[in-house]
Amino acid sequence: MERPQPDSMPQDLSEALKDATKEVHTQAENAEFMRNFQKGQVTREGFKLVMASLFHVYKALEEEIERNKENPVYTPLYFPEELHRMPALEQDLAFWFGPRWRETVPYTQATRLYVQRLHEVGRREPELLVAHAYTRYLGDLSGGQVLKKIAQKALDLPSSGEGLAFFTFPSIANATKFKQLYRSRMNSLEMTPEVRQKVIEEAKTAFLLNIQLFEELQELLSQKAEDQSPSQTAGLRRRAGSRTQDLTPVETPRGKPQPSVFSQAPLIRWVLTLSFLVATVAMGLYAM
Ligand code: HEM
Repeated sequence: MERPQPDSMPQDLSEALKDATKEVHTQAENAEFMRNFQKGQVTREGFKLVMASLFHVYKALEEEIERNKENPVYTPLYFPEELHRMPALEQDLAFWFGPRWRETVPYTQATRLYVQRLHEVGRREPELLVAHAYTRYLGDLSGGQVLKKIAQKALDLPSSGEGLAFFTFPSIANATKFKQLYRSRMNSLEMTPEVRQKVIEEAKTAFLLNIQLFEELQELLSQKAEDQSPSQTAGLRRRAGSRTQDLTPVETPRGKPQPSVFSQAPLIRWVLTLSFLVATVAMGLYAM
């Protein structure tokens, strides 16, 4: 809720956004995926999934920003050189998924929902784009820096920053000063009280879309862990002959289910159970 202002002075949009999203920010920090991440409990598999989701999210966000870069509802916040993450994410995905990453990068349901909302906003309500840019870019310039260090250590990555370009902003010398500039640009946007309220609501939605995404990733990771007994995992890994496998029921960008060795485990269990039942019935019939 917004703080009441003395003498009915309107609160700056930047402050209103910070206040209004305090609660959902805490919720985001406490999402299981994020809590584990902060404890250094992040696996290559989990990290690859989150990077893949971020790729789709930023692709949509930055497409919509480009569409609206000359629209006064967004122009003051247009900082492609300093902020845009697509080139960095493309580098990172090539590192994590290999040269054919565009064909294999996972695309989960919650990511699709987020992407859908970004396109809706960019096309139909561009005055709300500020809420999405704020949520992602100011977040990346704040907590994102801590997450980079944690990932580097937990995943044993080279200090050269390979695989972590997303977290680096080479054109921003001082993140604190840049955030101040960004806030003052947000405060310069002209908007009616109705639109301002919608922007605030949209920022909360943006946080919730992120939380939903983390919850889904955590669910996928937990399901996989459940589906695999340690012996199964070792056997399948040997057969797959691979360091890291993508184990999730996710789709490729073209919408085709991604082949996943581990997602076949329940099927194998079914086939075995069915064979056992058939054998039992056959033996029963034979005995009669
Ligand atoms: C482990 C998870 C996270 C940690 C540790 C974290 C930490 C932080 C910290 C320390 C700040 C700076 C606060 C300040 O300068 O007053 C911040 C700001 C921010 N964070 Fe996070 N954060 C996390 C997750 C997220 C997520 C998931 C989002 C949204 C997708 C997000 C969005 C933001 C935004 C928009 C700000 C700027 C607030 C403002 O100054 O208006 N954060 N975060």
